[in-house]
Amino acid sequence: MLRGPGRESLEVLTDGHYRAVFEASPDAMLVVDSSGVIRDLNPQAVSMFGWSREEMEGSGVERLIPAASRSRHERHRMRYAEAPRPRPMGQGLELQALRNDGTTFPVEISLSPGKLASGPEHVICTIRDITSWKRMRWLSRMKLKAAENERKHLSRELHDEFLQFLVAFKIRGKLLVDETDRNERERAWAVIADEILGAIRGVKQMIRGLGSPKLERQGLVSALATLFRDTRKVHGVTIHASVNLDWVADELDPVAVLALYRIVQAAVTNAATHARVSEAAVTVRSEDGVIVAEVRDEGCGFELTDSGAAGDDGHVGLAGMRERAELAGGSLTVRTSPGRGTTVRATVPMVNPDREQW
Ligand SMILES: Nc1ncnc2c1ncn2[C@@H]1O[C@H](COP(=O)(O)OP(=O)(O)OP(=O)(O)O)[C@@H](O)[C@H]1O
Ligand SMILES: [Mg+2]
Repeated sequence: MLRGPGRESLEVLTDGHYRAVFEASPDAMLVVDSSGVIRDLNPQAVSMFGWSREEMEGSGVERLIPAASRSRHERHRMRYAEAPRPRPMGQGLELQALRNDGTTFPVEISLSPGKLASGPEHVICTIRDITSWKRMRWLSRMKLKAAENERKHLSRELHDEFLQFLVAFKIRGKLLVDETDRNERERAWAVIADEILGAIRGVKQMIRGLGSPKLERQGLVSALATLFRDTRKVHGVTIHASVNLDWVADELDPVAVLALYRIVQAAVTNAATHARVSEAAVTVRSEDGVIVAEVRDEGCGFELTDSGAAGDDGHVGLAGMRERAELAGGSLTVRTSPGRGTTVRATVPMVNPDREQW
């Protein structure tokens, strides 16, 4: 027989070594017998499901499955026992698992038949929590949606504002040329000049919506002050602000600055347009290397869905805020319920940890 170094090392793996491999697996692993009873598990299974080893060992595997899917799982398990082979479980289905505290989470499960030293055939289940993978997928879908919405918004603006203006300008220009009365000509020109000014303002607004020249020019603290003033002017909503960044403002990562500004801007706009309030509060402060920004209103609140957005298509504000916070290495939480106001809280590191490594 060939005896390479690899071969030798395989031969010295004792039961204890196999046990160590089982215990060290980054995935949760269960050994389940033909009647669906958990016979063994590794520490990752204990921390994934929140039951103790003693509680899980000897209990039915179906306790780890949400009630609605248990009977289907039982049928599948029996069919698997008739023809066991290594394969992923529930191909094409979104599998959910159930924790001790009653919460569910998405999982990917692989099954393989295994004969233990003593006794009959068992099934080895490898379980991976795919919550963060799903979250990444959701984020990239939201990114595409946000880009598409931005394109629609731009074309709408161009159509409604600029194109309409050009059409009117052409007609008025022709009338102006044909006008023989000097006074009338001057009056017509005054109207056209006014419209040109309006169009210039419209285009500037569109440009502002894309980047943030205001933020670049003024810096975060002053750009926020302008935002709060504009909110009062445009929506009649007073913002009570407490922004304490004076001695850290210079140290902030530009990605964090833009994220914070856009998040506060979107949350303040939401409070001003949806909450039905005449005032809202904003606090921005530094705390142990992170900036915490909070936008609070005591308005009508709303029903929050799983994704953290309010649900239907076309609402990109909340999803965009979350995405911005996460791209800057931070996080976003929304506390709200109908009739009880809304608090949006973003936490963004002063220096993005991902960027530090570059
Ligand atoms: N502070 C708030 N008070 C009450 N309802 C809110 C508040 N913030 C958000 N909502 C509700 O959540 C929905 C989603 O908000 P989101 O910002 O994601 O989208 P939007 O404001 O409708 O549109 P946009 O994508 O232009 O921001 C809103 O339509 C509104 O019903
Ligand atoms: Mg919004």
